[in-house]
Amino acid sequence: MAEFRLETERLILRSWQDSDRAASWAMAQDEEVMRYLLTLDRAGADAMVDRFMAMEAEHGHTFWALERRADGAFLGMCGMAPPRPPLVEYEVGWRLMRHAWGQGYGQEAARATLAWAWANRPMQTIVAITVVENRASWTLMERLGMARAADEDFEHPALPEGHPLRPHILYRIGRPA
Ligand SMILES: CC(C)(COP(=O)(O)OP(=O)(O)OC[C@H]1O[C@@H](n2cnc3c(N)ncnc32)[C@H](O)[C@@H]1OP(=O)(O)O)[C@@H](O)C(=O)NCCC(=O)NCCS
Repeated sequence: MAEFRLETERLILRSWQDSDRAASWAMAQDEEVMRYLLTLDRAGADAMVDRFMAMEAEHGHTFWALERRADGAFLGMCGMAPPRPPLVEYEVGWRLMRHAWGQGYGQEAARATLAWAWANRPMQTIVAITVVENRASWTLMERLGMARAADEDFEHPALPEGHPLRPHILYRIGRPA
């Protein structure tokens, strides 16, 4: 399979490599990054990379690895997943190393993902999900022009009832005219 590579002004969204596993594990151990996400142990962090690689092999896109052009630093991930239960639409998503926050990298990577999606896939809508406490994530959704579907809050079925991360909110954006 051809390696995926999408460049923006400051970033590269690209296929995962085995050499990303150590940095991905470092990100998974940062409690601030993982505050609103499910904890991962080393095996879980590797399994996540495996899933993203398999997703790209099957669908041609994934939550890609994110690299800074200037120095090749691993910054995290951003990209798009195909519809996966409980979602029935494509999902844009992001997770950045703590040192990469607050510089507009999330928005730059997400805009590139959305532009790639509209140009290369026929879907009419893309969604993003998070927990209401994750202000950094949903304000990014708003900066991207996504709108909250307030009547589509849902309980994430992957989490047990009563889990604090179970209630989710959903944002959506439509294909530009
Ligand atoms: C959510 C997350 C990806 C946002 O990343 P980010 O790169 O900081 O987000 P943005 O691109 O929107 O950057 C916006 C911030 O950068 C600042 N900024 C600095 N330079 C900028 C530039 N050139 N362009 C745009 N914004 C810039 C903005 O002022 C803004 O600051 P603020 O957050 O203090 O208001 C990041 O916080 C993260 O990885 N969180 C942990 C993982 C997680 O929860 N993921 C989501 C799961 S649903």
